[in-house]
Amino acid sequence: MQGFELAYDYFDPEAELLREALTSTGNGYFCTRGTAEWEDPGPSHYPGTYAHGGYNRETTIFDGRPVLNEDLVNLPNWLVLKLRIEDGPAVGFDEIDLLDYKHVYDIRLAMVRREMRFLDRAGRETTLRSRRFVSMAHSHQAGIEWTIVPENWSGRVEIVTALDGRMTNHIVARYRELEGRHLDPVSPRTFGPETIALEVQTRQSHLYIAEAARTRVFPDGDRRPADVERSLHQMQDYIQQILAFDVEQGRPVRVEKMVSLFTSHDNAITEPLAAAGRHVLRYPDFAEALAEHEAAWTELWDGCDVRLPREERAQLLLRLHIAHVLQVCSRHTARHDAGVPARGLNGEAYRGHVFWDELYVYPFLNLRLPEITRALLLYRYRRLTEARAAAAEAGYQGAMFPWQSGSDGTEETQSVHLNPLSGKWDPDLSRNQRHVNAAIFYNVWRYYQATADLEFLRDYGAELMLEIARFWASIAHYNPRRERYEIHGVMGPDEFHEKYPGAPEPGLRNNAYTNAMVAWITATIPQVLDLLPAGRAAWLRDRLNVTDEELRLWEDMSRRMYIPFHDGVISQFEGYADLEELDWDHYRTKYGNIQRMDRILKAEGEDPNRYKVSKQADAVMLFFLFGDDELRELFERLGYGYDADLARRTIDYYDRRTSHGSTLSFVTYAGVLAPLDPQSAWERFMVALESDVGDVQGGTTKEGIHMGVMSGTLDLLQRGFLGTDVTGDVLRLNPRLLDRLEGAAFSMRFRGTSLRVHLEDGELKVLAQAEGFRGPLRVGVGDDVRTLGPGETCVFPLPAQAAPVRR
Ligand code: BGC
Repeated sequence: MQGFELAYDYFDPEAELLREALTSTGNGYFCTRGTAEWEDPGPSHYPGTYAHGGYNRETTIFDGRPVLNEDLVNLPNWLVLKLRIEDGPAVGFDEIDLLDYKHVYDIRLAMVRREMRFLDRAGRETTLRSRRFVSMAHSHQAGIEWTIVPENWSGRVEIVTALDGRMTNHIVARYRELEGRHLDPVSPRTFGPETIALEVQTRQSHLYIAEAARTRVFPDGDRRPADVERSLHQMQDYIQQILAFDVEQGRPVRVEKMVSLFTSHDNAITEPLAAAGRHVLRYPDFAEALAEHEAAWTELWDGCDVRLPREERAQLLLRLHIAHVLQVCSRHTARHDAGVPARGLNGEAYRGHVFWDELYVYPFLNLRLPEITRALLLYRYRRLTEARAAAAEAGYQGAMFPWQSGSDGTEETQSVHLNPLSGKWDPDLSRNQRHVNAAIFYNVWRYYQATADLEFLRDYGAELMLEIARFWASIAHYNPRRERYEIHGVMGPDEFHEKYPGAPEPGLRNNAYTNAMVAWITATIPQVLDLLPAGRAAWLRDRLNVTDEELRLWEDMSRRMYIPFHDGVISQFEGYADLEELDWDHYRTKYGNIQRMDRILKAEGEDPNRYKVSKQADAVMLFFLFGDDELRELFERLGYGYDADLARRTIDYYDRRTSHGSTLSFVTYAGVLAPLDPQSAWERFMVALESDVGDVQGGTTKEGIHMGVMSGTLDLLQRGFLGTDVTGDVLRLNPRLLDRLEGAAFSMRFRGTSLRVHLEDGELKVLAQAEGFRGPLRVGVGDDVRTLGPGETCVFPLPAQAAPVRR
């Protein structure tokens, strides 16, 4: 990987699926894996195209039991482009000898390129260069360009260009026993001589998806397309054209396939097939479309790039992560009813569901493209009715959002999950992670803090927050013996602990993270109500019937939630202290990688619930989400001590008992260690940065990138190392690891004003852009808080930092 490129210089069938995921191209509306255009689905190739909201439900009869699942559907494959030389077979990796090969993800343009020189079975040497993008300028547009050079031969070639609706969902091995067919054919069509189109529909959700492709051939240097022989073949769920023409030795020929994709969720169309056809006919040729795409990305980089000149590797990976985050969540996303699928739009792991991971995604967006966060939060707001129904059904009040969310906001978490180590289906109790509700509340508040978008709070946010607070009040109960409120039957983020060992009922008592979040939520509600115009607050309270008594109860909860402690640390949940210690050395020696300790233990007939072993940060999340001052206030309000060392002790305790079975955990630990042990934080930050490119979990990334980790690393740089924090109306910066950050430059947007932040020679410079300035703008380092006018720069001297960085 160099510069702005993730590049592979040899073909490796074993690694190809991973590379496809990492070289996906998308625009926040749809995303397509980096599969070679000429390859059909097979053990090393998996063409996958996904669009936000493209879900479908299917039932599998499993051991006689119906199992219902909702999946983000693999849409028709628009990539298909094959080369046949004379009467030879279509060129594919199995049919040729590669002389040169390069597979590149151009990070700056989110474009995938392949360049290869090969010998075919007849000894002909050919160069084929492919470039493709999914347009950031026009959300429905994508383009492929091939350049073919016959190096030592002349003759006739055929290009097969197709749209293939016969796709199924089957990249995730664990799900293969479950139904993977989601598409039904509707119809193929042509729009004039150059354009093929295909419409399909999802089998249950009746989403129509249409694609159209215009394929042209351009002889060397010619801007006008050549007149080539075309033949058509169409089936209900597949359509192809074959373009036949002569090529001459040494003379490059270009093939362009411009594609449009629409679904029946789109605005401003009559129906997808007509829209796809109309649009593709108007698309410019590849070069012009690419220029528009490039201009759109240039603008995005202007607001989102981070520069870290001293740290080459981190720099590159951060940019890779920025590109991937924006491929999944862009301004185009904001125009749709879209949430943040935990694994992006480039694989099928977790079925494209939306979890609490958005918590890790928004901090980066909030301070750059907050309009995207706003739209993604609306995904939750639109599902409030369903969340209310879920709460009522479970005997609670308010809104209970699902652990896994898809199309309509009902609970999508499976009830059984396949353990690939044992081959057995284990019950899946993870839906008891009610903390997702706390995350949604937190996300709304942090969005508001970054933007001061009172309209959002007034029209949507406050209602979400009130209903979530109400849910927590109803799931909590008062324990008169302790004189505290308790929550039973839930799980924290650590998915290894689903219940007490041997207990028949699921869930745990008093997960500290959950209870502390509830204390914070109930303490925050009055601030939310105070912010609203008085009339609106009264109207909302009236409409939701929020009584004075309820407000008093919440106030009381904010002072009396129960938090368990043991040995001077926060207990992950009540009774954690009684669990057995795990023989970590034994398992490390036996298995090497013990990240998925739950699967190892279960395969050995053991129950992870028995042990002090966490999959990921749980109690420690508190130190990740809140600053020291906020936590001190929270704990003191609860009447618990908050000594200066509580964070250090608690983090250290769980660090030794966490297997990091979710890569989110690396992000969290890096974040909490940043103020305590910046060097160790940096090391973990690097692990998180490398986790997807290096596929540290051995096979998960090919099923989709980890959105939370990719954006979490960007948040780490911003919050952990640059020390960005919003308190009141002040944007505070408190940089650490100055020698690693030397020369660092960032763009940010705080409450409407664009900022440039630059760290150099022991000084931090902040420039408030004049264009679009919305003041007053207050920025601070430590106690030094300044007010900036449009176009003004302020320079903060940074205190010298004691500990030199170990290299
Ligand atoms: C993690 C969860 C996360 C989910 C989706 C799981 O492995 O434990 O915290 O929400 O993956 O990314």
